[in-house]
Amino acid sequence: MKLAVFASGSGSNFQAIADAIEEDRLQAEISLLVSDKPEAYAVERAKTLGISVFTFRPKEYQNKRAFENEIVKHLHEKEIDIIILAGYMRLIGPILLQTYEGCIFNIHPSLLPAFPGKNAIEQAWHANVKVTGVTVHMVDEGMDTGPIIAQESVDIKDTDSLASLTKAIQAVEHRLYPDTIQRLIEKRTSEGSQNRHEHQTSI
Ligand code: GRF
Repeated sequence: MKLAVFASGSGSNFQAIADAIEEDRLQAEISLLVSDKPEAYAVERAKTLGISVFTFRPKEYQNKRAFENEIVKHLHEKEIDIIILAGYMRLIGPILLQTYEGCIFNIHPSLLPAFPGKNAIEQAWHANVKVTGVTVHMVDEGMDTGPIIAQESVDIKDTDSLASLTKAIQAVEHRLYPDTIQRLIEKRTSEGSQNRHEHQTSI
């Protein structure tokens, strides 16, 4: 399966996915990194990893439709099967949603539907909850609203600081995202061979 990772920031989840592939825990290939921030550290990481990059500046396009059409061109060129959002700080628009229906996934640092949007770890911290966590979900037109695929909780201990909680959440993200993508790929592969089998036996 060919993945495109979309990232706007540091790209630690992108790195974790690349590491899982390297260590054979994830049977996939990252064929493209897409970033709306050419100066993002994720772009540096891609270059170090030898992964192709498409960067763009949204302001240079007339609207979302225009830059998503451009993204789709690059995704098709690389024959991308699955889009993995990893800190991509934009809502996905109709062009990408329709072209890659059911094939776009995101990770969010809270137990959705609690604390959607930006700064989810800080939101949980300031809400004084005792448990937060990480969610992997399918992407729809909303902000962190698509069907949930995997969740893992993280306790907030009395001894925690915002920094230690952030570290604990990131550690879970870096394990849960590659593991969940691997499970998704296994499911799709077995469904694909099942369909082929049913097709063959019905002929
Ligand atoms: C992660 O916390 C992810 O859950 C959220 O954005 C952050 C990206 O971090 N969607 P990184 O760029 O992967 O380090």
